[in-house]
Amino acid sequence: MSKEIVVSGIRSTGHLHLGNYFGAIQNYVKMQDGYNCYFFVADYHSLTTHPDPKDLRENVFRVLAENIASGLDPEKVALYAQSDVPEIPELYLMLNMLAYKGELEKVPTFKDKVRQQPDNVNAGLLTYPVLMASDILIHKAVKVPVGKDQEQHLEMARNFAQRFNMRYGDYFPEPQVFRFNHDAVKIMALDGSGKMSKSENVNATIFLSDDDDTIKKKIMKAKTDAGPTEPNAAMPDYIQNLFLLMHLSSRPEVVDIYRSQYNNCNIRYGDMKKQLAEDMAAFVRPIRERAVELQKDEAALRKILKEGAEKARASASQTISGARKLIGINY
Ligand code: TYM
Repeated sequence: MSKEIVVSGIRSTGHLHLGNYFGAIQNYVKMQDGYNCYFFVADYHSLTTHPDPKDLRENVFRVLAENIASGLDPEKVALYAQSDVPEIPELYLMLNMLAYKGELEKVPTFKDKVRQQPDNVNAGLLTYPVLMASDILIHKAVKVPVGKDQEQHLEMARNFAQRFNMRYGDYFPEPQVFRFNHDAVKIMALDGSGKMSKSENVNATIFLSDDDDTIKKKIMKAKTDAGPTEPNAAMPDYIQNLFLLMHLSSRPEVVDIYRSQYNNCNIRYGDMKKQLAEDMAAFVRPIRERAVELQKDEAALRKILKEGAEKARASASQTISGARKLIGINY
């Protein structure tokens, strides 16, 4: 039986953080043996915020290196840069004709961007979900491992696939969000201000490139409070987040100790954070060290990109020629 097709991407807008790792990359690594995987650096997507060309280049190599350092094997998956696959912007153009201004303006991530960068509300921002749908549909993917923040975009990808199929005949499968444990992992910023993100509040974000000391300092400053006053109280979301991070990086017995202290109202957050800081630093260390090594050999990374693009284009060119035929662009 042929393996199911999987696609996912990460924007090259900054350093990767624990949200990217636990929300996405960890799932990629688990999927690489059982599925036919296409994972890419979404460099075109990052142009919406007009990055400095030097930064963009550096970010692409770092994202690539950090994915490999996290356990992705370029021999097993197609690992490529979005901009190396020209069939993606071609499909984007086709799907743009099926996407409506009204629906795009309603997308929450678009509204957020309008608020964050009112002087740069460009057409690329508006049509971001169309490019994302093209990334996925270009390989006819059925499963897309992403964090919770991308669910709405996936729904739009399904809408565009359906619309294409209605107009031109059944062609694209409807891609679904995929996760191993069913629950969406959402890592919050350590100051409790919202989701951990590449561009906001670097002091409340743990990057895969942070050294041990930086990780420890950031965790020791994480938001806490005076602690629960009644047994088995509900946890505020910033405390829940610390427990989630501990669950992801510490041994289960350790998490149990602090959970039972919380439930008995005798938890000392300072101790908990110290333990978490140790365990998280130990967790990130091998990834950081390997990524640094990989980034020293740009030629090797470039070779990986080239081979990844070849695999991706083999699949993308088939999809695009089928789409062209259905649309009637085959003279
Ligand atoms: P991006 O680059 O913002 O994030 C990459 C992946 O990391 C997940 N993620 C998180 N998960 C949990 N907690 C967090 N705090 C957190 N922050 C980020 C994201 O859900 C994502 O899976 N639009 C996408 C990139 C993209 C894409 C695609 C993804 C472009 N085309 C096609 C899948 C398929 C984005 O901006 O992700």
